[in-house]
Amino acid sequence: MNRLDIRDIISIKDFTRDQLEIVFTAADYISKLSYEERSSLCRGKILGYAFYEPSTRTRLSFEAAMASVGGSSLGFSNTATASTQKGESLADTIRIMAGYVDVVILRHPLDGSSRFAAEISDKPIINAASGTEEHPTQALLDIYTIKKEKGTVDGLNIGIIGDLKHGRTVYSLLYALIHYDVKVYLISPESLKIRPESIFELGKSISFTEITDIEECIDELDVLYVTRIQRERFTDQEEYEKMRGSYVVGLDIVGRMKKDAIIMHPLPRLDEISPDVDGTSHARYFEQARYGKDIRAALLHLLLADSS
Ligand code: NCD
Repeated sequence: MNRLDIRDIISIKDFTRDQLEIVFTAADYISKLSYEERSSLCRGKILGYAFYEPSTRTRLSFEAAMASVGGSSLGFSNTATASTQKGESLADTIRIMAGYVDVVILRHPLDGSSRFAAEISDKPIINAASGTEEHPTQALLDIYTIKKEKGTVDGLNIGIIGDLKHGRTVYSLLYALIHYDVKVYLISPESLKIRPESIFELGKSISFTEITDIEECIDELDVLYVTRIQRERFTDQEEYEKMRGSYVVGLDIVGRMKKDAIIMHPLPRLDEISPDVDGTSHARYFEQARYGKDIRAALLHLLLADSS
């Protein structure tokens, strides 16, 4: 087993704080290496990607990360051109891909898909987002961004605003934040509140307050994590239209934040952060996306270091 002692990255719930810190330390270490040193870490290794849902950052940053540590990537991000189109099952696709590559990253609309794939695959599986359930590598880069930009995670007030019902990044982030001493505000319209079973699971391990109006906490926040409304998860498109534009982080809100508060977003952004916020000293979402490359390179290095 590798230094992380985890074969598959399925859920952030599988991580202890020490394991989170191992990934962050590895990302720091990798980011300081010379090109030659870095590109020897996973030389000759192959990453396979099976993406059954759209992606820009996750897939590209994994590919960029693998290239930077000396490996290569292959796969499909459009099921119309894969055998899925002919009716091939997820199980068979994963079995076949695992025979060609050293690690498989999977994005799939079904909750539980990565756990299922890990049972079938004889190579490590990385969950690159599963349904509305989880996006563990996003949580790793989110926490890493907070550490890099704020110097610490402990002691911070963190506001998470948006579609908390459907946004999988929110769930992984919350399950990771359990390991830190933080105060969390969950800010959303009533119908987009976090799912009750997660509230139950988070229980007493994290201090959080659910509110509908950001005004109630804006001046207290050190981090504001914004998410989009997940249109594709709505069964009723009329309901989506009703919710659209129900919260927008603009200069009026930003002007009331602490001077050193930061704004994050897993991206893609639609209209929930107005573009004039991009030029303020608070915006960190593009840096956040960039940290994704080092975090994913660290993960690949940790998972593949001892594999032959
Ligand atoms: C997120 C996702 O796919 O869940 N995107 C990402 O990977 N950065 C967020 C989103 O789609 O809203």
